[in-house]
Amino acid sequence: MSRPSLSDAATTGVAADRVDQVVGDYRALFAEGADDQRTSGYTAMVDAYYDLVTDFYEYGWGQSFHFGARRRGESFDASLRRHEHYLALRMGLRPGQRVLDVGCGVGGPMRHIAHFSGASITGINHNDYQIERGTRHNEAAGLADRCSFAKGDFMAMPFDDASFDAAYAIEATCHAPDRRGVFGEVFRVLRPGSWFAGYEWCLTDRYDGSPEHRRLAHGIEEGDALPELQHTSVIDAALREVGFELAETRDLVDDCDPETPWYLPLAGELSVQGIPRTRAGRVLSHTAVRVMETLRLAPKGATQVSEVLNLAADALVGAGRLGIFTPMYFFLARKPET
Ligand SMILES: C[S@@+](CC[C@H](N)C(=O)[O-])C[C@H]1O[C@@H](n2cnc3c(N)ncnc32)[C@H](O)[C@@H]1O
Repeated sequence: MSRPSLSDAATTGVAADRVDQVVGDYRALFAEGADDQRTSGYTAMVDAYYDLVTDFYEYGWGQSFHFGARRRGESFDASLRRHEHYLALRMGLRPGQRVLDVGCGVGGPMRHIAHFSGASITGINHNDYQIERGTRHNEAAGLADRCSFAKGDFMAMPFDDASFDAAYAIEATCHAPDRRGVFGEVFRVLRPGSWFAGYEWCLTDRYDGSPEHRRLAHGIEEGDALPELQHTSVIDAALREVGFELAETRDLVDDCDPETPWYLPLAGELSVQGIPRTRAGRVLSHTAVRVMETLRLAPKGATQVSEVLNLAADALVGAGRLGIFTPMYFFLARKPET
C-alpha cells in the first residue's frame, strides 16, 4: 500500500459527515478543567485522535510514527530505522522469539525489527483504523506470518501471563493515564528474565513550570492526545514499582548531532521528501487542506485536524529548542528471574 496523498489524508479515517464533530469533541478535552476527562476517557480520546490523524502521519512521516536520534549525514528514514534496530540490539532479539510491541501504530517499527532480528512480533493497539491499515502493510511486506496485531488496551492486555520473550514500546506509553498500569501489564505478560526496552516522551530537568513552559507542554498534550506529560523520574519510578530491574535509563537527545536535532524534520531541512514536515511545508499543506475543505473535496473539519497537527509540531519544536522535553528517554529494564 503506497503512501497516502494529501487529499487522501484529508479524508481521515472518520466518516466524512462526522469529522467536524469528532475533532470538535477532541479539542474540547483540552479546554481548561477537562483534565479528568482526558484521564478517565483515555482510550476514546486516543482513538478519536488516531482516526483523524493516521493518514496525515503516513502522508508526512511514513509508517514509523516516532522520532530518531539522528547522526550527521544520516537521512531521516535511516535514523528512524537505526532507532528501532537499537532496541532490538539492546534486547538481543533473535529468530524464534515471541516479542510484544506496546502501542504499535500501523506497524512500521514492528516490520523493521522483524526483518532485522528474525523474531515474531505481536503489536497491541487500541485503534481499529490503524490495525486495519497495518494488517494490509504486513501483507504487502510479506511479513504476515511473523507480524500481527492484537486489538486491546495496553492497560489491560488480552494476553496470558509470561507469554512473551521480550517487549518494547516506542513513543506510545505516554498515552497511558498512569505508567504503572501499562508497565505492570508488560511485566505480567513477560517471561521471567526477559527484557523490556523503549523510548518515552517526557519533561526534562529544564522544565520549570513557567507559563511559557506550560504553554508548550499543553500544546504537545493537545497536539498528540496525551493525558498529561510526566518528568523522566516518573518513568524510572514506575518501572521499579511494578517490579522491573533497571539496566539503563538515558536521554538519547544527548546523542543527536547538534546539526541534526530530533526536531529538525519539523523545523526545516532541505530535502524533497521532507518538505511536507517542515514549517513552510506544513503551512502549504494546511492552506491546501483549507482550500479542499472550502471546495468540499475534503470533509468539514479537515482544516481543524491539520491545525491540531501544526499545534503539535510547533510545540514540539519550541520545547525541543529549549530542551524541556524529550521524545527519546531510553529505558532498558528486566523482569527478574524469580
Ligand atoms: C505515536 S504512536 C506510536 C506508534 C508506534 N510505536 C510507532 O512508533 O510507529 C502511539 C500508538 O499507541 C497506541 N495506543 C495509545 N493508547 C493505547 C492504549 N491504551 N492501548 C493500546 N494502544 C494504545 C496508539 O493507537 C498508537 O498506535
